[in-house]
Amino acid sequence: MTTVAFTISPVRIPASIDSADAADFIAAIEVRNAVETHSYGTDELNFSPAEMLPRWLDSHKRHWMFVAWMGGRIVGRGSIDALLEEPETCWLDVRVLPECRRLGVGTALAECVEAAAREDGRTKLIVYAVSAPGAGPQLHSPTGFGSVPQQNPEVRFLLGRGYRLEQVERGSRLALPVDEADLVGLLAASATAAGPDYRLHSWSGRIPARWLADMAVLYTAMSTEEPSAGLEEPESVWTPERITQTEELEAVNGRTSLFTVVENLPTGRLCGLTMFSVPAETTRVVSQEDTLVMPAHRGHRLGTSMKIGNLLQLQRDLPGHPAIATFNAEENRPMLDVNEAVGFRPMGYEGAWKKVLTARNLR
Ligand SMILES: CC(C)(COP(=O)(O)OP(=O)(O)OC[C@H]1O[C@@H](n2cnc3c(N)ncnc32)[C@H](O)[C@@H]1OP(=O)(O)O)[C@@H](O)C(=O)NCCC(=O)NCCS
Repeated sequence: MTTVAFTISPVRIPASIDSADAADFIAAIEVRNAVETHSYGTDELNFSPAEMLPRWLDSHKRHWMFVAWMGGRIVGRGSIDALLEEPETCWLDVRVLPECRRLGVGTALAECVEAAAREDGRTKLIVYAVSAPGAGPQLHSPTGFGSVPQQNPEVRFLLGRGYRLEQVERGSRLALPVDEADLVGLLAASATAAGPDYRLHSWSGRIPARWLADMAVLYTAMSTEEPSAGLEEPESVWTPERITQTEELEAVNGRTSLFTVVENLPTGRLCGLTMFSVPAETTRVVSQEDTLVMPAHRGHRLGTSMKIGNLLQLQRDLPGHPAIATFNAEENRPMLDVNEAVGFRPMGYEGAWKKVLTARNLR
């Protein structure tokens, strides 16, 4: 390894993107975006610093961010997220600009974030890393669905640091617009299959007060209902107050939330949700966020109905975006079936990795 001077320092999360101390945070998000663009081969998955800041200010989680400086500029970043109510798990992310790799920066950042995790008593470290297609042997997911190229830099790096591949996630893209007559036809067929006990509701922006309690139940279920294989992602508990605080933080990020939910008419309770996060600029891609149907209500085509309902809402109320991007576990066939029926196609894959810190590997 060539020896090149670099230093690592912690980043203070600014209260606002316009704060005098926001420069390092902004540069760290720019590193995030440069690496995402390099890994996926498109800048469609980039987010602005203002869009990213709310999740860093979320007081229901702990956050740490470190950056690597080389020649007076930020060339890498390492971050950690952890839930306050669950003591074991944390999510790590280390990224180095493509032109500054193989110089030890990634190792130094990983050691820094792993040390912070250890000091906080965290023993379960989870990493999601994009794996571009690569030649040669593949490392297969223990779920039996998906693989990553064994010679890719991130795969070599994570294996070398003692992480284990637990799952493969598929990134999918739906080119817009979708023919409206096709969508209306699909929605009618799904509604017939669902029967008379369910009704869709759609809205833009903040969650109506009448649905806050039900949405808190759905969000909490979302944290554990998504297949997480050997990652065993912990439950994240949502309350109406947490939803309201999150909405207030996100109010300044320039994006619009579009929801479609499904009400179970006999109980008057919501039993499913889907949400798009729509950027202000119509040149940019829409993000598909949470989609969930509660277990007792599965098998009624409600996932398809909600997705199509939300797509119709997007195309009618906020038209002009080039595509929608979504991420699903490769083994989550029911969700992939819904997405493929609407027209989503694969755009890339991410490995989900885990390292458990024990007395022996506490290095
Ligand atoms: C993975 C990543 C962070 C590595 O950053 P880096 O600064 O190049 O890492 P280092 O220089 O410290 O490399 C450490 C070791 O990882 C392995 N490695 C890293 N890149 C490699 C490559 N292209 N080929 C083979 N091995 C590689 C090697 O064992 C290397 O040690 P060596 O250079 O002494 O042989 C960087 O490639 C990156 O940002 N990738 C995209 C983001 C990502 O996938 N992050 C995953 C971890 S959260």
